[in-house]
Formats: sequence, C-alpha cells, structure tokens
Amino acid sequence: MDLQLTGKVALVTGGARGIGRGIALTLAGEGAKVAIDFASRADAAAEVVRKIEAGGGEAVAFQADVGRYAEVDRMVGDVLKRFGRIDILVNNAGIVSRKPILEIPLEEWDRVVRTNLYGCFHCSRLVGRHMVARGGGGKIVSISSIHGRVAKANLGPYCATKAAIEMFSKQLAVELAPHRINVNAVASGTIITEINLPLYQSAKPEDVEKRTAVLHRVPWREIGQPEDIGRAVAFLASDAARYITGAVLYVDGGYTADGTPRLPSGAQVP
Ligand SMILES: NC(=O)c1ccc[n+]([C@@H]2O[C@H](COP(=O)([O-])OP(=O)(O)OC[C@H]3O[C@@H](n4cnc5c(N)ncnc54)[C@H](O)[C@@H]3O)[C@@H](O)[C@H]2O)c1
Repeated sequence: MDLQLTGKVALVTGGARGIGRGIALTLAGEGAKVAIDFASRADAAAEVVRKIEAGGGEAVAFQADVGRYAEVDRMVGDVLKRFGRIDILVNNAGIVSRKPILEIPLEEWDRVVRTNLYGCFHCSRLVGRHMVARGGGGKIVSISSIHGRVAKANLGPYCATKAAIEMFSKQLAVELAPHRINVNAVASGTIITEINLPLYQSAKPEDVEKRTAVLHRVPWREIGQPEDIGRAVAFLASDAARYITGAVLYVDGGYTADGTPRLPSGAQVP
C-alpha cells in the first residue's frame, strides 16, 4: 500500500504490544513517525522503537496511563515537543475483565471504564484540541471490538465501554467534521495477543472448548493477526478515507455479519 503517510506523526496508545504494536509497525511501514504510548512496559515499548528504527523509521516511546488526564496531558505535550505535531491518534489502549456483572468488584468495573472509555476521551480531547488549533485536519481512530455490538457473558464493562467508544467516536466525528478531522472506529474481531493469550495457551478442556467455539464462530475460520487491524487503521488514517467519518469498520473475519452459529465438527445437537 502507498497510503502517503510519509512525514505524518502518529500517536498510538498501548503501542508496546499486541494490536497496538501491530498498528505502530504498520503505520511506520507506511512512512509515519510513531509516538508509542505505554503504561508500564518500557522494555516492550523500547523493543517496538528499535524494530521501527531498524526498518529505517522514526519512533519514540512515551509513558502515560491513558486513564489519568494529567498524565495524558503531559504525554501529549511531550509528543508535541518532540515531533511538533500529531496528525494521527490511535486510541488502542484497553483492558478486559472477565467477571459477571453481579459479582465484579466496583473498583474493577471502574478500572475498565477508566482505561477504555475515559482513556479514549482524554486522548481524543487533548489531541483533538491540538488538531483544531493547528488546522489542516487530522485522523482519530479508536479500537473497538465485536463485543461493542455482540454481548458476551462475563465481559460486562468491556462490552459496555466498547459500545460507548463507538458512539463517542460518531459524536466526535460530527463535532470535528467542520475541521476536516476524520473520526472512526475499528471493531476488531478476535486477535491473538496478550489480552487473550491465557485462553489460547491453556490446556484446560473448558478453555480448549471455548477457543474452538470462537474459531467455529468466525466464517473466515482464522483468528486475526495484529497487522490485520494495523492495515485497517492505516487506511482510515490516510486520505484514501477522506470522506469516511463516524464509521465503524468491522475487521472480524465476518463474525458480526454471520447470524448462523455453527457447531464444531463432531458436536452433538441434544
Ligand atoms: N485481542 C483481541 O482479540 C481484541 C479484540 C477486540 C478488540 N481488542 C482491543 O484492541 C486493543 C488492544 O488489545 P490487545 O489485544 O492488543 O491487548 P494487550 O493487552 O495485548 O495490549 C493492550 C495494551 O494497552 C496497554 N494499556 C493498558 N492499560 C493502559 C493504560 N491505562 N494506559 C496506557 N496503556 C494501557 C497495555 O500496556 C498494552 O500495551 C484493546 O482496546 C482491546 O480492547 C482486542
């Protein structure tokens, strides 16, 4: 792809590993300079920086917990000091909690909402203000999930925050359209990363059953890779997507398109 991102500056939150790492590498591969936000894994962020530099690109890691407004404010200031501008913001940082709504501790609910929804709000507000003040447009892409649309037991705050991110993104798209800032969401299907590695590496029969069920639920019959999300983000971050704003792009191997549940081969219908 030549998406003409050369010279653009992208900030990717949670860019040290998983999908964020895939997004950072893809954007760098398209010529963007990348600011990688990380919460605590300085070593992993440094590895992504090294990989981008080894490929001839430019990247710098910045620490900030996206759930804390003051930290994001400081981090955005640091990115602007280093690169002078931010053209692309990718709200990727996110956490999951796997507990029933009736049992989840209040502080755990709060942590998921703070990271996933407030994080998206904090970064979009601060970078959005910069984009508006600077003029010349910009791109904001937020990573949602198939579970912003399709519920899943025991993922209560996760599903609720992802649905909220999609509406937040549409709302911001409407407010920022006069400034020619595109705001979109990518609803990711299942991608193997550290967020779900315990499930994918577990030998427990119930976990094997769960992941077999996920695979059979995906019409493409594959679990996605971080770069699948990276390429969708790069497209939305480019002027090839000039007239796309307020959209939710499903990158899920057909998961949300398919209303027909399939049984794993050999499964018995009672
Ligand atoms: N992996 C999947 O199957 C999947 C599916 C749909 C959506 N997503 C979404 O994609 C995004 C990335 O997920 P992933 O699978 O790569 O997960 P991951 O756990 O591998 O990576 C998440 C990254 O976010 C960072 N992070 C967490 N809390 C943070 C905070 N408060 N401030 C800054 N950074 C923080 C982590 O340090 C990590 O680098 C998340 O928003 C997730 O909800 C993932």
